[in-house]
Amino acid sequence: MDNTKEGMHHCKFEVPEIIFGRGLLSQIGVCARRLGGHKVFLVSDQGLFDAGWVDKALKYIMEAGLEVVLYDGITSNPKDHEVTRGALEYVRQGADVIVGLGGGSSMDAAKGIAILVSNGGRIQDYVGPDSIIRPLPPLVLCPTTCGTGSDVSQFAIINDTEQRCKLTIMNRCVAPDISLTDPDILATLPEEFVCTTATDALSHALEAFFSVASTSLTDVHAIKALRLVSQSMVAAVREHRPEDLENLARASLHAGMAFSNSLLGIVHALAHPIGGLYDANHGSINAILLPEVIKYDIPVVAEKLPELAWGLGHRADGSADNAAEIVEERLDAMLEAARAPRSLRSIGVKKEDLPELAKKALKDVCIVTSPRQADEKDLLALLERAF
Ligand SMILES: [Fe+2]
Repeated sequence: MDNTKEGMHHCKFEVPEIIFGRGLLSQIGVCARRLGGHKVFLVSDQGLFDAGWVDKALKYIMEAGLEVVLYDGITSNPKDHEVTRGALEYVRQGADVIVGLGGGSSMDAAKGIAILVSNGGRIQDYVGPDSIIRPLPPLVLCPTTCGTGSDVSQFAIINDTEQRCKLTIMNRCVAPDISLTDPDILATLPEEFVCTTATDALSHALEAFFSVASTSLTDVHAIKALRLVSQSMVAAVREHRPEDLENLARASLHAGMAFSNSLLGIVHALAHPIGGLYDANHGSINAILLPEVIKYDIPVVAEKLPELAWGLGHRADGSADNAAEIVEERLDAMLEAARAPRSLRSIGVKKEDLPELAKKALKDVCIVTSPRQADEKDLLALLERAF
């Protein structure tokens, strides 16, 4: 993949059909019907049920003339057994279209269920790139947080509860047929999750921008996402204004399109084993690792820093040294003001586990597109600095 601005000699950009707008959850049933569905398998979680969004979705689906089965047992860091049980239930109920309504957990679980119902076996069989053979059932994903990007991405991340690690599935067929975002849903998202999911979007955009597989097509979305996050993250966390939340929903979408096509880097390579071992919040882990990894990457991405500084809301003077300083300062200030967690220790990571986490991160698919190579020693040093 060519990562020069002008070149684009080899460039591929995949996105689902995207529907975005306030109030458009009302279209959820119409979307499923348009894909030929008659009986919807709705995958969601308890939090959204309690906030009333699941009932609304059920109503809209039935108003579109479809039958619907609710599967709302998904927990954060979705588990392999939740996916297996969901697939069995989908088949038992005779459903023919899957709708995921939720954060990354519900959407990734919906993807996992879609893989198993059409391909059989265990979710562990589909780890890595391109190991899914048969086409998936129709899939509609509706994000309800500010950051996972799962609704447009070619990734699904599922927890292997026996090995206590995250399984990364990468395949163009796990990108849904339709991504449907209704930013109004963010009104009920707790402050803590506004922050941690927005920092996930921030990580996606930054890592996509630095990725060795980035192209001008992914850069434009990464920078747009960064502009929106830097404009609205702190205000959205503190004041919860609809226009800021909508900006974050838009940022999630742009960052998702960027990283789905350029992949990620060391932040996510480290975040996956940490999330797998401790069942910790993904966005919190990213927020903690991001400043250290960006500092690590900066020496090899000097030419991109002025544009990045602009993306983070500052005018750079064109000097790479000065831009590096601005990027570091701006990032730090944003995370601090949004009250993001700042140390691995504070989220329960144990010092004695760091060597094992570094070893596992080295095998994560996200490490492949890191702009700066890292061995086990480098990864351990990054973890220690973030501890
Ligand atoms: Fe992420």
